[in-house]
Amino acid sequence: MNQSAGTTSAPSDLLEYIGSSDDAIKVADRIDWARLPRQIAVIMDGNGRWANQRNLNRIEGHQAGIGAVREVVETAARAGIGALTLYAFSVENWKRPQSEIDALMELLKQYLARELPTLLRHSIRFNAIGRLDGLPINVQRDIEAATKATAHSTGMRFVIALNYGGRSEIVDALHHVLADIGKGKIKATEIDEQKLVEYLYTHDLPELDLLIRTSGELRISNFLLYQIAYAEIWVTDKLWPDFGRLDLLRAIVDFQRRERRYGNVDTDDA
Ligand code: FPP
Repeated sequence: MNQSAGTTSAPSDLLEYIGSSDDAIKVADRIDWARLPRQIAVIMDGNGRWANQRNLNRIEGHQAGIGAVREVVETAARAGIGALTLYAFSVENWKRPQSEIDALMELLKQYLARELPTLLRHSIRFNAIGRLDGLPINVQRDIEAATKATAHSTGMRFVIALNYGGRSEIVDALHHVLADIGKGKIKATEIDEQKLVEYLYTHDLPELDLLIRTSGELRISNFLLYQIAYAEIWVTDKLWPDFGRLDLLRAIVDFQRRERRYGNVDTDDA
């Protein structure tokens, strides 16, 4: 693909945020700003290992992970990404020690309270996906409050996946489809791949183009199973707390280098 095909230059808002180091200028120059991924999803992994390497406890690793969340959200919004979806707590994560679960819930509450002004400043629209009714009630309330407070934002969609599982999402969609068939809202014969998308938690988000995973594991971990069908996957060895603004931009550069064929053949080979 032609890297010089960019029709627009880097947004000044982003340049201001990433600074003018050689690395920052180089990565911004390599991005085709007219061809950004529509939605980026991230499996934020490695907080525990990051803490372990520093003789800290796992909770301190998650605390450090919040810094990376803030940077990635702001970088993506300033870059002009349509939607950013972060995997913060899976349906399987309830197996962790209660003290770690409590700390993660508390960090989420703190994050929402502290970051709301930043979300509003950048016109970011927040919501959460997953089996939200299984979360502690005070967390549900804070999610609702942040969702409502940013409901009129017209910029990037920022989604946190909580008590989320890709299989649960498909099961929930199926129940919803069956209920609608029962009510006569749709006919069973109307269900096709596209129709099912309308029943997913992510029904109102743009197409998922890029899935990022930190800390080197080559797994999907039950994340956005239906949505990743044609997504490009980008894995870095960096642990989540070390993932920063330029890393997100590097993932975009790599995404743009790839040739996406959607099952088709290269026209030169045809
Ligand atoms: C994976 O690291 C990380 C998580 C399960 C939680 C991610 C949560 C945060 C970054 C904080 C809260 C999030 C938001 C959006 C405010 P791990 O514990 O599995 O790391 P390890 O594999 O090295 O043990």
